[in-house]
Amino acid sequence: MYKKLTITLFAAIISLPVLASDDVTEARALIKQFGSTLKGQLVGAMKEGGPVKALKFCNVRAPGIASDTAASSGWEVGRTSLKIRSKENAPDAWELGVLEQFESKKASGADPAKLDFSEVVESNGKKIFRYMKAIPTEKACLKCHAAKVSPEVEAELKELYPDDKARGFKEGDIRGAFSLSKPL
Ligand code: HEC
Repeated sequence: MYKKLTITLFAAIISLPVLASDDVTEARALIKQFGSTLKGQLVGAMKEGGPVKALKFCNVRAPGIASDTAASSGWEVGRTSLKIRSKENAPDAWELGVLEQFESKKASGADPAKLDFSEVVESNGKKIFRYMKAIPTEKACLKCHAAKVSPEVEAELKELYPDDKARGFKEGDIRGAFSLSKPL
């Protein structure tokens, strides 16, 4: 009896971190899938019709790709930022805290490509696993997220996103983050 209890307790203790890391592994795999679909289609649209076509693509398809990834996995999947383009991507309080934490880690020398954070939070009495991974700004992103963009892109952005805040980025900046969550 004593032995069985000890084994049960031991199993419960060691299974906790294992469970958490399974969720992180799953979240990272989803980000890979979501990120590469987004990037693949963005590059395709760029090649086909330049940045204006790609911009329209992002406007229409980026939220859809996020919800497709979510629907097939049971997770909520999205992107957010301290400087958002689409209001739909505005951070909630938890995301805001994590984004600020990423910025301060980067300021003390951390590589943005390696910044991530996970936590189990409670919402309405339910436990939710939440995970965020920073998205570094690459050269290809500057066509639509730099301070200076082509006049055509500028005009299109004005029309689609009159309140656009997602400008002024440089290579290596944290553009934003993937944000995923799953009820436990
Ligand atoms: C062709 C123009 C274009 C390029 C190039 C581009 N983006 Fe965007 N980006 C957009 C548009 C449009 C949105 C808003 C999409 C939406 O409604 O979700 C957006 C939104 C985002 C968001 C979501 C947060 C927000 O501001 O709404 C992130 C994060 C992001 N882009 C990162 C990147 C990164 C990283 C790159 C380079 C790998 C990149 N973008 C390249 C046009 C572009």
